[in-house]
Amino acid sequence: MQYTVQKDDKIAVLCGGMSSEREVSMRSGKNCYEALLRLGYKNAELVVVDKNIAETLKNGNFDCAFNALHGKYGEDGCIQGVLEILRIPYAGCGVMASSICMNKEYTKRILSTVKDFPLIKSVFVKKGEDVKKAVEELKYPLITKPVSEGSSFGMTKVNTPEELVSAYNEALKFNDDVLIEEFIDGFFVTVGVLEKDGKAFATEILEIRPKTEWYDFEAKYTKGMSEFIVPSTGLSKESTALVKKLAVKAHETTGCSGVSRVDFMIKDDKPYFLEVNTSPGMTDTSDLPAQAAVCGIDYDNLVLMILKSAGLDK
Ligand SMILES: Nc1ncnc2c1ncn2[C@@H]1O[C@H](COP(=O)(O)OP(=O)(O)O)[C@@H](O)[C@H]1O
Ligand SMILES: [Mg+2]
Repeated sequence: MQYTVQKDDKIAVLCGGMSSEREVSMRSGKNCYEALLRLGYKNAELVVVDKNIAETLKNGNFDCAFNALHGKYGEDGCIQGVLEILRIPYAGCGVMASSICMNKEYTKRILSTVKDFPLIKSVFVKKGEDVKKAVEELKYPLITKPVSEGSSFGMTKVNTPEELVSAYNEALKFNDDVLIEEFIDGFFVTVGVLEKDGKAFATEILEIRPKTEWYDFEAKYTKGMSEFIVPSTGLSKESTALVKKLAVKAHETTGCSGVSRVDFMIKDDKPYFLEVNTSPGMTDTSDLPAQAAVCGIDYDNLVLMILKSAGLDK
């Protein structure tokens, strides 16, 4: 159910929250809020989310919400569920897409139904299972990841079988379920997906060349540790078109609305899907604003485009 946001609507810009990405979300939220004011939505309000959020929203008489939360409770369907129950239309992805995409394994299962979708060979190992046996069919090096974390938290590159158990245990600190993938020795790209008149389209591709071996937490959040190239120069014309097509396909197949950002590894000019982010960062240095900018969509228009996806029952 689509909702048309009015200029004098009271818009709750949700930020902060209870995830490991709280600080990033504070920055995303402040930026989006300021953009809304510039766009003339003078009754927009920055709402810092904590466990009393249902009450805050109810008492605040908000007409709609703009979600600038990331990670647990903000990007996984939880806050979306609260908004659905309170009947407050919100921009961005709904309950189902958010919860599917928060889980890298379930995202892959959904996308495995798409013919020729390039998924990395992987196994899904639950706590207490025999991890050595689980990876028997995989080729080293491997990468172990908690199934629903962001920011490369709990991830380890595993070069030899001797390193496997400790890497698996590290991932278990975050989730009881661990995804173990073959390591793609290539480079990382990410592509935004936005919607215009309800139709999804891809932004330009952003290529990231980390100075570390892979795009780990250090590379992600230390200035100068990664080189950003947008639009990407490392892909052929055909591969560029394919990555964009796959990103839109991932967005649609997982049921995303309004906005997402899809990550891939590239090796020998071939893409391999990593994940769908349903509430991408919106800070000054975030990927999506940079991807949109090279498509001629400045920050304020990006926020406006996302706001137009406001609705319920999605
Ligand atoms: N199978 C893989 N092979 C090589 N590098 C990987 C693989 N999976 C993840 N990475 C690296 O780790 C980073 C984070 O992985 P991703 O799955 O996108 O999780 P996050 O939710 O932490 O962003 C990626 O940007 C990529 O550089
Ligand atoms: Mg990622």
